Amino acid sequence: MKKSLPISVSSTINSSTQLHQAKSLANRLNLPFHPSIGKTDSSYILAYTAVGLQLVQFADTGQMRSLLFVDFVKGKNGYRHSRNLTIKQPLAKAIGIKSGFRPSVFDATAGLGTDGFVLACLGCKVSLCERSPILHALLEDGITRAAGEPGTKEIVADRLDLQFEDSLVFLQQTSKKFHTIYLDPMYPHRTKSALNKQEMRVIRALVGDDEDCGGLLEAALAAAENRVVIKRSKGAEEVPGPPPSYAVKMKSSRFDIYL
Ligand SMILES: C[S@@+](CC[C@H](N)C(=O)[O-])C[C@H]1O[C@@H](n2cnc3c(N)ncnc32)[C@H](O)[C@@H]1O
Repeated sequence: MKKSLPISVSSTINSSTQLHQAKSLANRLNLPFHPSIGKTDSSYILAYTAVGLQLVQFADTGQMRSLLFVDFVKGKNGYRHSRNLTIKQPLAKAIGIKSGFRPSVFDATAGLGTDGFVLACLGCKVSLCERSPILHALLEDGITRAAGEPGTKEIVADRLDLQFEDSLVFLQQTSKKFHTIYLDPMYPHRTKSALNKQEMRVIRALVGDDEDCGGLLEAALAAAENRVVIKRSKGAEEVPGPPPSYAVKMKSSRFDIYL
């Protein structure tokens, strides 16, 4: 994991509710709180905005730009887009979704929840686990907003839960059973992913490369009922450990499947 970057918490809206929310989050994450948003010493600001919690940055021009935002309601990851998803897509096949069978999934590297939300839209019960406090806070906010929207309420309430923990520790201690354990670790020279390039750059700046993913694979193999799936970029070496049973290949990445 990466050393911490200068991040503070603020709100773009001058309302007592949002300032209170921002202050509580700053306390929870042990980060500085700024009652008014503006240029600070922090490179990044976690800001409550009119649309939700975002990680933002100020450009030299003084313009604020959004870097990370979880939105399951609108946009490219929104549920409307997910209506076009089918169980024939590579992620669904890799996870073990079949007509009449929806595996329970432990998403050990939740990130912004993009893959986890796709699986929940396809009918899987998904337990998301994230160890970065910043990514966890953004994802938690995205899930809370989605829980309040008619189109996503059911998906989120019935099929998604989120915890803030190191998945390695969780998997070593839990007695809960999951059909599939899904890993999508950061790794050096990663090229393409479910996330776009800017998001990936920012996430890398926040969390670094998940060089401990060999241990996570070992714990996942011991805990999974049916299979472990690891997303890798095309041509990347396998995660150290036993060889995968097979791979589902895509244009720029692949899923290594351990049965
Ligand atoms: C590439 S991102 C995952 C993207 C995610 N699949 C998505 O669709 O948004 C990798 C994430 O896994 C998290 N991570 C890596 N190892 C972890 C562990 N042992 N426990 C919890 N989270 C972990 C990192 O903090 C990072 O947020």
